[in-house]
Amino acid sequence: MPQAAPGAFAPVCRLVPALASFEVDRPSLFVDVDRVARQYFALKGGLGFAQIHYAVKANPTGDIIERLVAEGAHFDAASRAETELCLSQGAEARTIFFGNTIKKPGDIRFAHPAGVTLFAADAAKELEKIAENAPGAEVYIRVLVENTQADWPLSCKFGRRDAMLPGLFARAVEPGLVSVGLSFHVVSQTRAPAIWTGLPDQVAAIWRDLEARGYAPTLLNIGGGFPVIYSAPVDSPTAHASQVLAFVTERFAAVARVMAGPGRGMEAEAGAIHAEVVLVSKTSDDDTHRWVCLDIGRFSGLAETEGEAIRHQITTARDEGTILPPPPRGTAQGRRAAPTMHRELMKS
Ligand SMILES: Cc1ncc(COP(=O)(O)O)c(C=O)c1O
Repeated sequence: MPQAAPGAFAPVCRLVPALASFEVDRPSLFVDVDRVARQYFALKGGLGFAQIHYAVKANPTGDIIERLVAEGAHFDAASRAETELCLSQGAEARTIFFGNTIKKPGDIRFAHPAGVTLFAADAAKELEKIAENAPGAEVYIRVLVENTQADWPLSCKFGRRDAMLPGLFARAVEPGLVSVGLSFHVVSQTRAPAIWTGLPDQVAAIWRDLEARGYAPTLLNIGGGFPVIYSAPVDSPTAHASQVLAFVTERFAAVARVMAGPGRGMEAEAGAIHAEVVLVSKTSDDDTHRWVCLDIGRFSGLAETEGEAIRHQITTARDEGTILPPPPRGTAQGRRAAPTMHRELMKS
């Protein structure tokens, strides 16, 4: 088996020795909160004037939010629960925006009086909902960009294509909302910064079209997509982010507010799961696979093993300090769902 590149997997290695000192009797997620903070500053170092809003859905753990509040980060909340979490951890409402394009009226009714003034939308009905429940709020419209090069392509349901956008932008003004700009998301785990040339071009064309129609957008949300180490090395976060910023600046130099929303890109390298091998078996004598069954499964903490290209690094007590490369697809996934996922937070 090929060895992992030396140093390439350092982020997770830092947690692994610590895991051995915990006695755990169920699958447990450990999070290194300092590591999240370091990633925040690394991304910030590259993203310059762009304001970082942590996409809370990536890991809605109070300790992470509390730490990021202390470090000056802002937040992209996708639900009432995430908004409440940020507020409960000391975030000022003005630092939170509601980034989910699909919101329940009650959640909007909660967030707006609490002080959240910026909302995402990508449909006329959603704009009506925001206007009714958060009159006078700022909205931005999500653009659907095509990216087939990410490790985790989203389906095509979020965002709207260019032909619909001017109409939506206009609708956002009519019902008493303030149409402030556009957003796009290049899709999670976009490893090649070059993808950032084509996609912002698509958005810049829409932006210029809106200006030609007499609108004056001022806000651009570039979403997440910043890559992290799963099974292959990636650029350093600062280098990657500064390339992204360069591509964005080339096209949107005059934009007053640029926001970025890393989620996984901020916290994925800070976590490690402790799981136990429950059974190693074969389905028949001539089965060429050894099925390694864990006490964690794809429906109880390893969602990314569901038909995804993202693979986790695995270390075992028998590795003698070596991090094994990821297993061939489908060989090391838990087949038994654990009833609960126990979370432990590690601070250092
Ligand atoms: C609009 C938007 N912003 C930010 C994120 C978080 O990005 P990532 O998890 O790639 O860091 C997502 C993830 O799906 C998203 O859809």
